Amino acid sequence: MTRTRRALSATHLALATLALATTGGFAQAQDVNLARNLAATCANCHGTNGNARGDMKPLAGVSADKIVAMLADYKNGNQPATIMHQISKGYTDEQIKLIASFFAAQKPAK
Ligand code: HEC
Repeated sequence: MTRTRRALSATHLALATLALATTGGFAQAQDVNLARNLAATCANCHGTNGNARGDMKPLAGVSADKIVAMLADYKNGNQPATIMHQISKGYTDEQIKLIASFFAAQKPAK
């Protein structure tokens, strides 16, 4: 009896831990504003929602793969830059993927 109860509570604990871990990951993936908030840090130079003005290249509507690749090139020094080599190092690969998919989903102004 006691043995059964102990075994049960161990299973229970394992399940509770699993549920907690799963909920944590789910909550993160569900933060719909995260990508937008990260992308907002680019707005000063690349314009609101990636619609750049003047000479700055727009990011709105550029494919996520292309943005990820360009940022990787800045990060690893393959693409010389005045500022983007520094900025790109401030984000994890995961954050860059979120930012890139946000900009890819924006409508270019023109
Ligand atoms: C302080 C201004 C500034 C900020 C902030 C900034 N950028 Fe840039 N970005 C530039 C400049 C300037 C270039 C041109 C390359 C260089 O000289 O660094 C550039 C180039 C780029 C390019 C290449 C565009 C192309 O078509 O060649 C991408 C992609 C890019 N930035 C993405 C981002 C992302 C994503 C963020 C936010 C995480 C960001 N930038 C924030 C100034 C900025």
